[in-house]
Amino acid sequence: MKISFAKPHLPDQGAIVVGVLENKVFTPTAQALDDLSGGGIKRAVDASKFTGKKDQVLTILAPAGTKVSRVVLVGLGKADSIDAQAAQSFGGTGLAQVLSSGDSQVAVAIDAVPGLKISEADFAANAAFGALLRSYRFDKYFTKEKKEDKPSVKKLAVLTAAPGAKTAFAPLEAIAEGVFLTRDVVSEPANVIYPESLAAQCKTLTELGVEVEILGEKQMKKLGMGSLLGVGQGSDRESQLVVMRWLGAKDKDAQPVAFIGKGVCFDTGGISIKPAGGMEDMKWDMAGAGAVIGAIKALAGRKAKANVVGVVGLVENMPSGNAQRPGDVVTSMSGQTIEVINTDAEGRLVLADALWYTKETYKPKIMVDLATLTGAIIISLGGEHAGLFSNDDKLADKLTKAGTAVGESLWRLPMGDAYDKQLKSDIADMKNVGGREGGSITAAQFLKRFVGDVAWAHLDIAGTAWSKKDTATCAKGATAFGVRLLDRLVADHYED
Ligand code: BES
Ligand code: MN
Ligand code: ZN
Repeated sequence: MKISFAKPHLPDQGAIVVGVLENKVFTPTAQALDDLSGGGIKRAVDASKFTGKKDQVLTILAPAGTKVSRVVLVGLGKADSIDAQAAQSFGGTGLAQVLSSGDSQVAVAIDAVPGLKISEADFAANAAFGALLRSYRFDKYFTKEKKEDKPSVKKLAVLTAAPGAKTAFAPLEAIAEGVFLTRDVVSEPANVIYPESLAAQCKTLTELGVEVEILGEKQMKKLGMGSLLGVGQGSDRESQLVVMRWLGAKDKDAQPVAFIGKGVCFDTGGISIKPAGGMEDMKWDMAGAGAVIGAIKALAGRKAKANVVGVVGLVENMPSGNAQRPGDVVTSMSGQTIEVINTDAEGRLVLADALWYTKETYKPKIMVDLATLTGAIIISLGGEHAGLFSNDDKLADKLTKAGTAVGESLWRLPMGDAYDKQLKSDIADMKNVGGREGGSITAAQFLKRFVGDVAWAHLDIAGTAWSKKDTATCAKGATAFGVRLLDRLVADHYED
């Protein structure tokens, strides 16, 4: 979908999306359309339940007196509640109404209503961003879809008097590019995206000035990454560790911020094999890595003035004659030994070596890992919040605030010695699972053993990486949860 910005006008074709404030208070553009149609828009509103509450919609087809195909009214709620998130929701909700309507063009009218929480330029830019995010669709494998079933909208024009709208949109467009890369790789099935092909996707970021280094099994073995390698050893696909460096700070040697992602390209559970029902979901067990890759793309795309390192551990967890067995003991790069009680608790084994490697190699200011780590976090928080675990209150606070700002909510869970004790093994330094209770927390305790003194946070995104329903800014499927959050964390705290 192509996005452009234009001065306010009433289009003579296509659809138009306009806002209405709470209690049926029309924005100037809604009023202008109503005047043209001799009061037809108001009559339609009065004949419906539409009152202008946030995200309510009402579509009026071909109103007399106008030349548009349809007017989509979107509720804005109270003017003083319109922030960047609400603006994105407005754009996304409006676009969703016309995406497959048959119209190929849509205009989104931005009105400067008194009391707005953000500038009109930011309102326009975020409405465009929301619509762009909502336009994403992973449809490359439909070979027989009829034209009338495909989305029809090709062009979106944002109508605004604010001169800065286009400039405000530029970094958001870069973020959307990151989000789309993440959604692409997370949506791809595991016969297409596996460790080496995902590493190849990382490599494409060199076009944006990112330094990309790929370590194969031989190099990882030399480094002593027995924990990560044990997970991948049952697979015919070679495990990979990919490092992406975006050095955008004035001082390229300044300590970086590090993001680490779980990249289990398919998780069968290994010998502790999962039940068949729903196992196909485990193609998105690399969503943590996907988010890190997308975040680096976003940061490089908008030329963030920060040094950021992304590290993703890419493996496939398969049962086979060479697979790791329950009870096996592996030695991690840190030197700590791990008794693998359950081969399905593999994400933490991958992250153990990825975290340690990152800490040792880059001495980062902070480390944030993202992982679809536990089913237990879905039971705790559902799809509304990702779990946040941290050894540093300040970092936890920064992440929570960044998440709220971008609509990717986090909820912090506790950690502590009593949980850590559950990892005691009879034969090695630790085992890879605790009991059933508090499963997300014991998983986090396991990771904490591999971060040393670095300020670290772990985001368990198992409940938020994939959505079973459409939202204002995301069609059902891969959400790219984490990309906007990591970008915002860097923007708010780590840029020159
Ligand atoms: N990838 C899964 C967690 C998961 C489950 C992600 C459902 C998304 C949806 C992870 O590797 C796993 O299998 N975790 C186990 C851990 C258990 C064996 C301690 C789990 O949560 O059941
Ligand atoms: Mn697993
Ligand atoms: Zn997994």
